[in-house]
Amino acid sequence: MGGREATAMRRREMLGLSGAALAGSLTLTACGGSADGARAGAFSPAESSPAESSPAQAEVPVTPPEDLMREHGVLKRVLLIYREGIRRIGNGEQVPAQALNAGARIIRSFIEDYHEHLEEKYVFPPLKKAGKLTDTVPVLELQHQRGRVLTGRILDMTGASKTPGTGDRRDVVAAMAAFIRMYEPHEAREDTVVFPAFRDVVPPRRFLELGEIFEDEEHRRFGSSGFTGVVGQVADIEKTLGIYDLARFTPKV
Ligand SMILES: [Fe+2]
Ligand SMILES: [Fe+2]
Repeated sequence: MGGREATAMRRREMLGLSGAALAGSLTLTACGGSADGARAGAFSPAESSPAESSPAQAEVPVTPPEDLMREHGVLKRVLLIYREGIRRIGNGEQVPAQALNAGARIIRSFIEDYHEHLEEKYVFPPLKKAGKLTDTVPVLELQHQRGRVLTGRILDMTGASKTPGTGDRRDVVAAMAAFIRMYEPHEAREDTVVFPAFRDVVPPRRFLELGEIFEDEEHRRFGSSGFTGVVGQVADIEKTLGIYDLARFTPKV
């Protein structure tokens, strides 16, 4: 690996992979041994088994598409929070305003102001320049704008000073339902079509640089805990709604 690539990966969050897994799966240059080996120290012992600490261990950066796709995981989990809100309101229960507002605030700060900002600044322009997905990208951009409108409504209708009335219950359900309906296909299309095309049009060196840029922006906005901290916030909301326990979604067959 050249010095520039190593520099680009300097503060990047690293993922441990065994040598065998690395040989079988990596297309990007792996960063192993020597000076970069020490940088894997960002991992706590709890996250690294003894086997993974062997000399054969190598680390790879979180690439831009992986970064964006795991952010979509956060988006999906807030969609599930909204869905639980819709279910409760539909059953005539109290609006879980605090939980919905907390979910909408994560959408605003993490998805709209951060994730979509990255897409609009670094993903869509190279696709446009390459003449790729010319029908899709403008739709995604418009959907980002419409999403912000819906989030604004959800935030307004679930704010601390409000006790949602009948009209508000109906309106907040409509806003959340429209948000879910738009973002499920939106994020699925990005994962399966847009990000693979983005990978095709961006040169490898620039790809690594973008990984560094994304991480710097993540920590500038969300502090040292970054993505992990936001996932923890989502989990806390899920716990208040009783939808955190994964096992409860396993069907009896
Ligand atoms: Fe998007
Ligand atoms: Fe996205």
